[in-house]
Amino acid sequence: MNQTNEHNQKLYIETVGCQMNVLDSELVVGAMRQHGYELTEDIKQADTVLLNTCSVREHAEHKIYSQLGRMKFSKRDRPNQVIGVMGCMAQKDQDLIFKKAPHVDIVVGTGQLGEIPQLVDEARSNRERSLAVSLGRRDGSRNEVADSFESYDPLRDPEMRPSPFQAYVRIMIGCDKFCTYCVVPTTRGPEQSRPPSHIASEVRTLAAQGVKEVTLLGQTVNSYKHTENGQLYRLSELLQLIHDTDGIDRIKFVTNYPRDMTVDLLEAVRDLPKVARYLHVPAQSGCDDVLKRMKRGYTIKDYREMMERINSIVPGCAVSSDFIVGFCDETDESFEQSMELIRECRFKNSFIFKYSERPGTKANERMPDNIPENVKRERNNAMLDLQNAISEEDNAEFVGREVEVLVEGLSKQAIKSGDADENALKAQLVGRTDCDRIVVFEGNPRLAGSLTHVDVHDCTATTLIGSIVTRQIQHGSGELLPILS
Ligand code: SAH
Ligand code: SF4
Ligand code: F3S
Repeated sequence: MNQTNEHNQKLYIETVGCQMNVLDSELVVGAMRQHGYELTEDIKQADTVLLNTCSVREHAEHKIYSQLGRMKFSKRDRPNQVIGVMGCMAQKDQDLIFKKAPHVDIVVGTGQLGEIPQLVDEARSNRERSLAVSLGRRDGSRNEVADSFESYDPLRDPEMRPSPFQAYVRIMIGCDKFCTYCVVPTTRGPEQSRPPSHIASEVRTLAAQGVKEVTLLGQTVNSYKHTENGQLYRLSELLQLIHDTDGIDRIKFVTNYPRDMTVDLLEAVRDLPKVARYLHVPAQSGCDDVLKRMKRGYTIKDYREMMERINSIVPGCAVSSDFIVGFCDETDESFEQSMELIRECRFKNSFIFKYSERPGTKANERMPDNIPENVKRERNNAMLDLQNAISEEDNAEFVGREVEVLVEGLSKQAIKSGDADENALKAQLVGRTDCDRIVVFEGNPRLAGSLTHVDVHDCTATTLIGSIVTRQIQHGSGELLPILS
């Protein structure tokens, strides 16, 4: 690639939003490094500032616009700085971003991320603004719109991953479900699955670089479908294809769509030992009327039947969910039905959101956002309390048990307190079980990336607390040696 900078330019990047955005930022940073950039954590030092944005709720956009507001003053001192807004809000707001923040140089949608290094260079040399976005969902045929969203999956730079042992792998882009409240089909474009051979080769490359755990990403990951060499691959077949990749110990996938949680997929989860027994399948609401207004495409009876399928085919599988509270016309009774669903399904955890009306969505056009903020807040808090109580009760069942953990590295607390580094002999470590429960325990930081066994002796709603199992084994000499797994 073109080395356009003789001396290293400094890049500052901030990322909000979902795992897709985290992956996009990683890939953009990798490309910028090949272009001679190095990362800085100090925005004041940066020649280029990129904000990777999210539009799913108003609050996420507010945060970006106020950050941009603050940057107006800092740019006065650094007129050569290039400011770029990328990702979902760039695709959604387009020119509006230049109007609200005239000091922004480039606006780049989710389908044009590959153009960023060039656009930054051009902005620096011409001092002209540029806008690179995809077609709107109504601006052309499905194929034309789909072609305007490019899947951005360049060769990866191993140093750019948040952890050397874990990596996200995109298996599809976009969404065609059009839930009435959601901006994602607009910001990410039509649903398109990547060819299985590309995914398998990316997983092999990652494994060769030391990755132990891959998380396959898609907005509705279990709707994955691609025909290659005359064979149809659904997610279950894709999992089989990548399962035996040498070096990979664990495979996860998010986010699932309830209607596509089919028997073949659940059997793959049951039969393939490296696939985590953990499914994130957002319900959004426990009330049929609300689900219908959301256009989720299933009833609560369907969701219950799906839970029964999960529990009977993959016993012990952890399930987590998302809920939106305070959607248009949500009554106390509808809300109570959501609470009932949580009691019944006993989700491992739930992400709970207050409904946020989004311009351009069907709900915004046709349904009033008529639940007062204080009611949304009360429902949000009540639901959080219920879910936390269930999570804690379920975690308590692990106390006294031994769990297998994939060690991720130092715990947040160990990193924050700064009292441990990778070379310490012992530090607080964090890892996850096969069913995605977070476990903290003391151990040698060099265990990061390995599977180890932990005795659980305490818990909170979010975390299991334990210590590494030490076993006495019979050694060849007859001598008993303790081994640390
Ligand atoms: N593709 C995923 C979710 C993507 S957005 C899926 O279909 O499950 C992540 C979560 O944000 C959603 O599950 C939903 O709970 C929440 N969300 C989406 N739009 C929202 C809105 N307008 N207001 C509040 N929450 C919203
Ligand atoms: Fe949004 Fe629905 Fe698509 Fe999920 S399935 S991204 S909630 S439109
Ligand atoms: Fe947000 Fe875009 Fe993800 S809107 S949730 S960053 S797909």
